[in-house]
Amino acid sequence: MTKPMIRNNICINCEPRGCEAALRQQIAYAKKTFAPEERGRGPRLALVVGGSTGYGLASRVCAAFGYGAATVSLSFEKAPSGTKCGTPGCYNNRAFDAAAAAEGLAAITLDGDAFSDEAKALAAEALQEAAAKAGVPPVVDLFVYSLASPVRRDPETGVLYRSVIKPTGARFEGRTVDMMTGRISRAGVEPATEAELADTVKVMGGADWERWMAELARRGLLSPATRALAYTYIGPALSWGIYRDGTIGRAKADLERACAAINETYRGRIAGAWVSVNKAVVTRASAVIPIIPLYVSCLFKVMKARRLHEDCTAQIARLYRERLYTKEAALDAANIATDAEGRIRLDDWEMREDVQKETLALMEAATDDNVFEKTDLAGFRQAFLEAHGFGVEGVDYREADEAL
Ligand SMILES: NC(=O)c1ccc[n+]([C@@H]2O[C@H](COP(=O)([O-])OP(=O)(O)OC[C@H]3O[C@@H](n4cnc5c(N)ncnc54)[C@H](O)[C@@H]3O)[C@@H](O)[C@H]2O)c1
Repeated sequence: MTKPMIRNNICINCEPRGCEAALRQQIAYAKKTFAPEERGRGPRLALVVGGSTGYGLASRVCAAFGYGAATVSLSFEKAPSGTKCGTPGCYNNRAFDAAAAAEGLAAITLDGDAFSDEAKALAAEALQEAAAKAGVPPVVDLFVYSLASPVRRDPETGVLYRSVIKPTGARFEGRTVDMMTGRISRAGVEPATEAELADTVKVMGGADWERWMAELARRGLLSPATRALAYTYIGPALSWGIYRDGTIGRAKADLERACAAINETYRGRIAGAWVSVNKAVVTRASAVIPIIPLYVSCLFKVMKARRLHEDCTAQIARLYRERLYTKEAALDAANIATDAEGRIRLDDWEMREDVQKETLALMEAATDDNVFEKTDLAGFRQAFLEAHGFGVEGVDYREADEAL
């Protein structure tokens, strides 16, 4: 039986059957959550950049299986080679394509570097093709930009930039937990240099989102119905040192700058662009940020007890059904509920005062001896394993091995 190989909250292998089964569960959730009368309100053609795992995959699943949209997704995944398994997203993509085909949904899945001009051109062609297959106008109704990437090669200069997760100004110290052993330790990270900060903004900021919009505009793929989205996180003050006020937070501030610029540039030509502040979930990207595993384990305990818990799919279903495509918002994007800065807030339940207060109290109380009882580290670990296809309900892993 394939066993997960996890060290320092990074998992280096995955289980294909489990990835497929987890994806089928996501699809089943979308199909049961979106009511038939909601179908006409949603997108007919959606582009998801970063659509193979996490929030991007959930965005694609809900667009396709919730609203019946034709979808084009671009992601950067490794296919299996020799005895080495591929990355989870590669199996998710395959399973998505099979499920979409079985339901007669037009779906094109591309693999490539989203930052390159070539990938943008390929995606534009795929959108035309998907629209033709689905018999819908060749314009993007929904564009979700959901990348989490460690590197970006600037297509104009050829320079390769690397992103880092570091504080700015002062050293950051916080408690973190090893999800396999439950051992709590203090993690310290030295501040980023000015160059590291600038490079992280280059990778995870909004410049590439703007380039995507320009390419879609150039190809005539935008319309007054186009809604463009990118995702961000704010979180509790105790994480700001490493997140919001750190290098990633600066990049996310640049994403908000880009959002405003897109709205300015395409005013009247698209319905609008929004940054959606999503809640903390367990994805491959989030497990490596110091403090986040302990915080999320405590948060899950509190949100599950209050029946407020959501995973990526539940968050995106709420984003579409209760923000982007409510009856009123579907008619006029001006009716999309936002905060004073124009951001969509899906972290409203996470940031509720009672939820935060109890979460922070649990973080204080957690020790090596009581971490599995005080917090939902088991739930965190389970979600992390599932993201790699392990421990997925209904999968007989012995059988899966025989079939491989
Ligand atoms: N995970 C969280 O708790 C959380 C919370 C709020 C917001 N967000 C935001 O959501 C977005 C997605 O994060 P996630 O946690 O779902 O990450 P993830 O690691 O699950 O997904 C990242 C996606 O980006 C793709 N990708 C990476 N580099 C690429 C490249 N060069 N070209 C094409 N595709 C590439 C991957 O293939 C994958 O599809 C990020 O902007 C993140 O900041 C995450």
